[in-house]
Amino acid sequence: MLEKLISEAEKGGGNKRIDTQHAKGKLTARERLSVLLDLDSFIEYDKFVKHNVNDFGMENINFFGDGVVTGHGTILGRKVFVYAQDFTVFGGSLGAAHAKKICKVIDMAINTKVPIIGLNDSGGARIQEGVNALAGYGEVFKRNVDASGVIPQISLIMGPCAGGAVYSPALTDFTFMVKNSSYMFITGPDVVKKVTHEDVDHETLGGSKIHTSKTGVADCAFNNDVEMLLKVREFFNFLPLNNQESPRFIPSNDPVEYHDESLNTLIPVNPNTPYDMYELIEKICDERKFFELKSDFARNIIIGFGKIGGYIVGIVANQPMHLAGCLDIDSSRKAARFVRFCDAFNIPLITLIDVPGFLPGTHQEYNNVIQHGAKLLYAYAEATIPKISVITRKAYGGAYIVMNSKNLNGDINYAWPTAEIAVMGPESAVEIIFRHKNDQQQLIKEYKEKFANPLFAASYGYIDDVITPSKSRYFIYKALEILKNKQMVKPWKKHDNLPL
Ligand code: HXC
Repeated sequence: MLEKLISEAEKGGGNKRIDTQHAKGKLTARERLSVLLDLDSFIEYDKFVKHNVNDFGMENINFFGDGVVTGHGTILGRKVFVYAQDFTVFGGSLGAAHAKKICKVIDMAINTKVPIIGLNDSGGARIQEGVNALAGYGEVFKRNVDASGVIPQISLIMGPCAGGAVYSPALTDFTFMVKNSSYMFITGPDVVKKVTHEDVDHETLGGSKIHTSKTGVADCAFNNDVEMLLKVREFFNFLPLNNQESPRFIPSNDPVEYHDESLNTLIPVNPNTPYDMYELIEKICDERKFFELKSDFARNIIIGFGKIGGYIVGIVANQPMHLAGCLDIDSSRKAARFVRFCDAFNIPLITLIDVPGFLPGTHQEYNNVIQHGAKLLYAYAEATIPKISVITRKAYGGAYIVMNSKNLNGDINYAWPTAEIAVMGPESAVEIIFRHKNDQQQLIKEYKEKFANPLFAASYGYIDDVITPSKSRYFIYKALEILKNKQMVKPWKKHDNLPL
């Protein structure tokens, strides 16, 4: 009897709908969980929940589980709560019973201090349930907010995610999408057409390409369900289970004493010639492995997780290959949210700096680069985690201060001998302060000798040491070791008021 019920429950909306799901190149909710979680680790709850609706013929259609599979399991042996919307049941749409199931696992995740991963594949609010469906969303959102900063929350978008439904992923820490089969938007193509007369399809309005390159809503996109789920397993390993856990340490055989001599020639002779910051990132990380987030969005800044001598770290780095590595609205937003995640979850932060300043122009100013830039400043200034930086080349003006400067509580600030720390570059500086003098070249030379090197800043203690580039990995590792037990207490407040 029980076996029969279980088998019925596990069939979701039935074989025909499962075939349709497969025909779209999508796995079912249960198949997805079997890839995401360790073998046989899934413990399911609320398998026999049904809706309680008697309108619009719903009284005659009722499936066990009500369109969402919930429970907990492990990923590489570490606990995680999950919910996976089942598109074969009412299109994964969210009604009262469905929402209650999701809320139950989020509550359990918060109470047990275990992360939550939501697999979204849903037609949105269940139309037949009216305001009860909307209320269900409200209950989920409220819990996402409560969980924020307590446990890591990951949203996987594996099908439609439309209307207010997008706000749950937006409230969580990381959002991953599947290429060509997932989309996220507030209003779909039909409503857009009616209101603005724009012709736009799902993919162009809110597909993974848009959200990984234009909006920055999504952190990564993958070719198919399986690829995504396997990558999420890898990603999960970087995260602590909750905000009270000590930073993760996964021993590595990669020697930290190894000095990569090639880094000594990474900086081009011409200060305006770009170079690839990924090279430095890879050479400081264990096994050269770096898990990058938002790689196609605001490419002038790089963010992601790596491991140095076994210590899991967050890395933020300017990328001179794009917009000369300057800060702008998108890169500030991108890095700020990442810094805040690392701070909330005790993940030490490494900042690699080559920044000529903020991007000038009316586009930036009119779109409020002042407050968006201030987000990054705020994030660095409030962060109490170990904060280590290396200035490789330029660190000019406000951008120098923003990027983990000593004055924003940077703990250990290194500079390469090629570092230039100044209010602005030599040519611009001389043009402003010696506009009417004839010997401009001589003045530029003098300015360079004074400021276009790390020694002036080092002489005031703003830089703790000038290091040989090839030894960067070793020095960062030593900094991580000494900062391991860092504690910093800030004044009490109800909450902050960061520039949103
Ligand atoms: C109830 C729904 C549903 C919904 C889909 N279904 N969406 N049932 N409420 N919101 C059901 C369909 O009736 C169908 O049932 C099954 O799911 C599969 O749907 P199809 O349309 O056949 O699938 P497909 O062609 O793949 O299209 C998927 C879709 C489409 C693009 C998601 O179904 C659609 O546009 N649905 C409505 C989307 C929407 O407008 N939702 C409300 C958004 S506003 P059967 O029985 O045939 O299998 C919102 C507000 C949230 O969510 C506010 C929070 C504050």
